[in-house]
Amino acid sequence: MDLLSDGSYDSGQNGQRQSRLASGFFITFEGGEGAGKSTQIARLARRMRAKKYEVLVTREPGGSPGAEAVRHVLLSGAAEPFGPKMEAILFAAARSDHVEQVIRPAVEHGSIVLCDRFIDSSRVYQGVTGGLDTDFMQALEAVAINGMMPDMTLIFDIDPAEGLKRAAARRGAGDAADRFEKETLAIHRRRREAFLAIAEAEPERCIVVDASADPDTVEHVVTAAVFAALEKRVPTQRKQTAPA
Ligand code: TYD
Repeated sequence: MDLLSDGSYDSGQNGQRQSRLASGFFITFEGGEGAGKSTQIARLARRMRAKKYEVLVTREPGGSPGAEAVRHVLLSGAAEPFGPKMEAILFAAARSDHVEQVIRPAVEHGSIVLCDRFIDSSRVYQGVTGGLDTDFMQALEAVAINGMMPDMTLIFDIDPAEGLKRAAARRGAGDAADRFEKETLAIHRRRREAFLAIAEAEPERCIVVDASADPDTVEHVVTAAVFAALEKRVPTQRKQTAPA
């Protein structure tokens, strides 16, 4: 990843001239635990930079110094005792900062932004398995993103039993699962269904990727889908309700 220790991000230019798009492109990566999103984001970024696209890799919760400060509170479980509503608002606060400080400026500059998790994680983890009211979640989402909808969302689909195994292997024996990963398999199964339901409801934005395949196969699928979308993209007119 390109996350720097101060919570800012390296655009990966390494002094090389990169070509900017006339309008940027905002791609989000979603799915359950251990689906391999970050590996695939890194591979895609590498391929895009090889083609001289200007790429920014970022993640949630976090991605801006303000949001990174909230990340620890959420993932350590420090906010869990205060309930899912409190957590949802904290995710939204972090997202708002990330959108205004990092994502919107990069997209307006003409970069391709690759973001590991975004609104669909809140819809699924807080909305569906957190049991929060849909109207409340929609209102929160609107405030947090202020019109910055992703142009494209890749939903990494994997059997949660397999995903959790991968996530545990990645963590290593010494490290405990975080606040959300530690939940029951039944909850992770509901999350998988909820992500698939979003993909079905918004087919123009979402593509489901079979994340159980080997990494090279997944990379091939992701690359083909993203480059096809980039070729036929039309600049998104985003409605921003309030100045940043
Ligand atoms: P993290 O270790 O960053 O990533 P990943 O699981 O993608 O490798 O964990 C982020 C956790 O936060 C993950 O369990 C999903 C959860 N989450 C939410 O519950 N709501 C959100 O809005 C976001 C962005 C993440």
